[in-house]
Amino acid sequence: MRRRLPVLALAAVAAGLAAVAGFGGGGAEPDRFPEGDAGRGAYLARMAGCIGCHTDAANGGKPLAGGAAIATRFGSFVPPNITQHRRDGIGAWSVADFARALRQGRSPEGAPYYPAFPYAMYTRLSDQDVADLWAAFRTVAPAEGGRSGNDLRFPFSVRQGLYLWRALYFEPERFVPDPTRSEAWNRGAYIVRGPGHCGACHTPRGVLGGRDQERFLAGGKDGPGGKTVPAITAAALRAEGWDAGSLAAALRSGLKPDGDVFGGGMGEVVREGTAWLTDADRQAIATFLLEPD
Ligand code: HEC
Ligand code: HEC
Repeated sequence: MRRRLPVLALAAVAAGLAAVAGFGGGGAEPDRFPEGDAGRGAYLARMAGCIGCHTDAANGGKPLAGGAAIATRFGSFVPPNITQHRRDGIGAWSVADFARALRQGRSPEGAPYYPAFPYAMYTRLSDQDVADLWAAFRTVAPAEGGRSGNDLRFPFSVRQGLYLWRALYFEPERFVPDPTRSEAWNRGAYIVRGPGHCGACHTPRGVLGGRDQERFLAGGKDGPGGKTVPAITAAALRAEGWDAGSLAAALRSGLKPDGDVFGGGMGEVVREGTAWLTDADRQAIATFLLEPD
């Protein structure tokens, strides 16, 4: 309750600012995208968890036809239909519309998306990544429905509040490799910070739901379903006894070294995501996570 008032006031200010300033910024998308490779795009879609989030196994499980509601302390978010259906999905979109959604968090009409859609991480995708993903999405069978919408608490239900959120927390950027690090480390950094969106759960959020980047991967108290998410910083992982081999193996099997299965959202991350990656990519993730900061 104590936190409620400032948030309300900020949402009102944000709505005002947005009305005055219009909605600019966010970095332009290029006029042309390279030729996409659907196979590479399908691999990236696994890595990025698009299928897991946007498919509801309980509701027929039509791939990408709309996901199960994600419960958060702001209310529940429902990942929409992103099949090629022209009315209910994104079948009428261009590759530029798709790029703007993924890397800038904006709809074709210019409205901001909620960060429950991890575009703050997908912003690190390259032009080639976006083109490949789009080539893969072009092959998805159209399916109806899946536009039921979010159910959020006020003031989070006011989409304009996102203008403020974005001003505070969102900066479009592409991934830039660090030339002083190994190729595997850079590949891991790209996966973890970008498409793998590990920070979406493992980096704690502030009052307004922005990620506290000072505490990158330091764990948090409000993961999916309000559960605690452990820290996966190098120090925390080493303290728990992880090494590169056990980490890469767990990301494939979903089993921890003590024989326990991953619970919470992590089970799905493995099942729908990291289990499908190449051994080299799982090794790269482990290399990046375990390298001292
Ligand atoms: C953690 C769950 C999650 C993951 C992972 C995820 N999304 Fe989403 N996505 C959402 C939610 C929630 C929304 C709705 C956001 C809103 O209402 O503002 C959304 C919205 C979208 C939209 C906008 C659709 C429309 O009709 O306006 C597109 C396009 C999209 N996602 C594509 C993707 C792609 C491509 C991937 C993988 C690279 C992906 N999503 C991964 C949760 C997710
Ligand atoms: C949807 C939220 C979510 C996402 C996204 C996510 N994790 Fe997790 N992760 C969890 C939860 C919850 C646990 C705790 C699971 C348990 O204890 O059973 C966990 C546990 C872990 C652990 C074990 C830590 C320990 O000491 O026990 C590792 C390693 C890990 N995650 C790595 C990753 C990596 C790498 C990514 C990105 C590819 C990732 N996670 C993305 C929610 C998530």
